Amino acid sequence: MQTSQTKNSYLTVHEVAEFLSISSDTVRRWDKKGLIKSKRNSQNYRVFNREEVSRLFSKVNGGDTEKSRFKILKNNKTTKYNVIDLFSGAGGTALGFHNAGLNHKLLVEIDKQASATLKKNFTGAEILNEDISNVCFKKYKDKIDIVEAGFPCQAFSSAGKKLGFKDTRGTLFFEFARCVNEVKPKIAVGENVRGLLNHDGGRTLETMLNVLDEIGYRATFKLLRAQYLDVPQKRERLIIMAVRKDLDMPMLFPKEKNYTISVKEAFENVPKSEGQKYNDKKKEVLKLVPAGGYWRDLPIDIQKEYMGKSFYHGGGKTGMARRLSWDEPSLTIVCSPAQKQTERCHPKETRPLTIRESARMQTFPDNWAFQGSVGAQYKQVGNAVPVNLGFHIGEALISMLDGTLDDTKFIEETPKELNKEQTFNF
Ligand SMILES: C[S@@+](CC[C@H](N)C(=O)[O-])C[C@H]1O[C@@H](n2cnc3c(N)ncnc32)[C@H](O)[C@@H]1O
Repeated sequence: MQTSQTKNSYLTVHEVAEFLSISSDTVRRWDKKGLIKSKRNSQNYRVFNREEVSRLFSKVNGGDTEKSRFKILKNNKTTKYNVIDLFSGAGGTALGFHNAGLNHKLLVEIDKQASATLKKNFTGAEILNEDISNVCFKKYKDKIDIVEAGFPCQAFSSAGKKLGFKDTRGTLFFEFARCVNEVKPKIAVGENVRGLLNHDGGRTLETMLNVLDEIGYRATFKLLRAQYLDVPQKRERLIIMAVRKDLDMPMLFPKEKNYTISVKEAFENVPKSEGQKYNDKKKEVLKLVPAGGYWRDLPIDIQKEYMGKSFYHGGGKTGMARRLSWDEPSLTIVCSPAQKQTERCHPKETRPLTIRESARMQTFPDNWAFQGSVGAQYKQVGNAVPVNLGFHIGEALISMLDGTLDDTKFIEETPKELNKEQTFNF
């Protein structure tokens, strides 16, 4: 029989269902949707944290008098640790690191409007609106503790051979590695999408770790889920962490919390702002979709007309004609809020999320003034790393540099074993 792993701390699916007076199927569905987080016990059964279930119980029963959990996290301290931030975009990671207490020396961003946003909002650092491949970093040698880069992912042509640093030339990863090699920071952090894990059968990521090894860094990686790190949005980011080999430093990542933040909490008092609008035809269709619903909630004839050929192609397509739910974290914020495959309709009003609503989902403060056209602003918001995710990573980095390990807040990861024969198995 399935039993709780630790009678006091964990509950089985059936125990949760009984506790919340819902069916076991609903518990599994909530787990799948990320509303309640499970882990596997030693017998490979799903178990749930008792405290989290209790909190959910008070929510389900309307007794949740807690104030909204939504806030932009910020420490009141500053540290002596210096950062170079590459591919800065509108500054999601940079602001999160700053809020954690880190001190930026340089930000580099090629896009004119994103750079204008940085210049308008981010003070105390040099901001270069430049193609990174034109920037020499040698003057920063031994003056920087952390180099961070949200580099766009590109394939390497490996053609069966083990690729070294020079072979990756011409890619944006190379530019990140070049900066690390010129500056020799204590820590290098790369940020990317989940897809990098399996990109080219894992070869791309393996090559990156090999290159970091070659330039003197031991490295590991971890997928972080923003929805469990104080962000009201389901968004995953792959974080590569590398530490200079002469340093005896643990590699720390933020530990997931056992709560999530809903759209409703995040939208409290959101300021009015610009946003895209639907045309009349689309509005008529989306009006029929309830909060949390999507195309399957439409009458069948409208489904067929709206979906066109996709109607017959199978698959979930849960992003089509999608209206956000009030009680869950938002779906991943994308660069355009009204694309047919990744619709992000407001939970109540029939319109896409505005700039400020999207920015709240990314935990940018309301006074972070995005520059450029409405389209350029949506793109900057959609491209960003959530500020609170950056904050938690920043805190982990400070802990690494301070030499403290609070295991209630951080998880230590060991360096990945590199496969020098290049068979790329993670
Ligand atoms: C995913 S976004 C970065 C998000 C950002 N790091 C954050 O924390 O919010 C990638 C950024 O890289 C910039 N970029 C792309 N190629 C570049 C280059 N050659 N030099 C500098 N920046 C570049 C893009 O304009 C884009 O803003």
